[in-house]
Amino acid sequence: MAYTVPKLTDYSSAALEKAADTLLSALKHESGAVGSPDQWKTFRDRWVARKNGIVTQINDLWLKSAPKDAKREVGQRVNELKKIVELTVDAGQKWWNTGATVGVVHLGIEVPAAALDKYAREKVGPVDITLPGVRRAIGAEHPVIKTMHEIVGVFQKLGYSVAEGPVVETDYYNFEALNFPPNHPARDTQDTLFIAGQQSKPQRERLLLRTHTSPVQIRTMEKMRPPIRIVIPGTVHRNDPPDASHSPMFHQIEGLAVDTNITFGDLKGTLDHAMKALFGSSVKTHFRPSFFPFTEPSAELYVTCFICGGSGKRGSDPCRPCKQTGWIEVLGCGMVDPNVFEFVKDNGYDPKKVSGFAFGMGVDRLALLKYGVDDLQYFFQGDVRFLEQFG
Ligand code: PHE
Repeated sequence: MAYTVPKLTDYSSAALEKAADTLLSALKHESGAVGSPDQWKTFRDRWVARKNGIVTQINDLWLKSAPKDAKREVGQRVNELKKIVELTVDAGQKWWNTGATVGVVHLGIEVPAAALDKYAREKVGPVDITLPGVRRAIGAEHPVIKTMHEIVGVFQKLGYSVAEGPVVETDYYNFEALNFPPNHPARDTQDTLFIAGQQSKPQRERLLLRTHTSPVQIRTMEKMRPPIRIVIPGTVHRNDPPDASHSPMFHQIEGLAVDTNITFGDLKGTLDHAMKALFGSSVKTHFRPSFFPFTEPSAELYVTCFICGGSGKRGSDPCRPCKQTGWIEVLGCGMVDPNVFEFVKDNGYDPKKVSGFAFGMGVDRLALLKYGVDDLQYFFQGDVRFLEQFG
C-alpha cells in the first residue's frame, strides 16, 4: 500500500522517531522502484511538489499542528527529513542526467544502478561500440604561457637553466639589492603595489608584489656561485589600470649570465641570436641607451618589426604595432652594475673578478604581437571562445 503521511497525536520523541522511520523506509522503497526518467518525475512530484508533496504535508500535518513545547524538536526532525528527501530526489536527477551506472548513496539511501541498467536495456538495446564516444575538449597552452615556453626554450638550448622566485617580495630584493636606494626616484617608475600593514617593519623587510623578475637575480646569486646562466619566467604586478596594452598583472622573462670576462659583445650576440630564433633569421636588432639602476651601461633592445618587416607599412596602410617606425622595443638589458655584485660578494661575486649581463622582457606584449591580438585583456578574461583559437 502506498505511503500516506499520518496525522500525529503523540509528539513524544519515540513517536516522532517511529513516524520518521516509516517515512524513510517509504522513501527508500519508492526511490528504489524508479526505473525511468518518467517514473522519476512522478516520484519527484509525489515527494517534493510544493502544493501537496509529502514534504509539504509533513510540514503542515506534523510541524504546524505541533504543541508549543514540541515545536523545536519536530522542527528539527522535519528539516532533517526534508533534506534527505531532497537529496534523494536530486541524486536521482543527477543520476539520470549523467547516465552513471553506479548507484548513488546519499545518507544511506541508495539510488539503484540496477534500475538504470534495466532502462538502458529496454530503451537502447545492446551497446553499439562503433558509435563515436563522448568527445572531450583537449586543453591547450594559453598563448602567453606558450610564448613563455618558446622564449625559455631558446635560452635552454644555449645552456641556460630556469630559476624562479616569489611573487610577494621584500623591498630588499625588489629594490635595495638592485641598487635602488630607499627614496631613490627610480622607484617611482615601478608603480609598486605594496602589501598593507607593513609600516612597523624595517623598510627592507616590507612586503610588496614584485614589479619585475629582477629580484630573482639576487636570490639566485645568493644560492649559486658563478659562473651562472639562468632565465627566470614569472608574473609581476604594477599599479596600472587594465586597458588594451596594460594589466596590473603581466609576465616577464629575466636573463642573467655571470662569469669572468663577460662583455657587452656577449650580451649583443646572445640577444641577437635569441631574437632571430624567436622571430625569424631575417630580423635585425638594434640597441639604444637606457637606464636601469642595476645595470650599467643599460640599453633597450629593438627588433625590426616582424609584422611589416621593418618598412613601417602594411601595403598602403601604416603599420600599427611599430607605429610606422619599423622597430619594436622588446626588452631592457645591460651589464650587471658592480653595486649589485656587492650584495652577493661573499658568494663569489667579487665585482673585480666577475662580470655579467642581464635582460628582462615582457612576455604578454610579445604574445600580443606574435598572434596579432589587439587587446591585452583578452588574455586574462578566460573566455574559452578566445582561447580555443590557440588550441
Ligand atoms: N627589470 C627591468 C624592468 O622590468 C628590465 C631589465 C631586466 C632591465 C634586466 C635590465 C636588466 O623594466
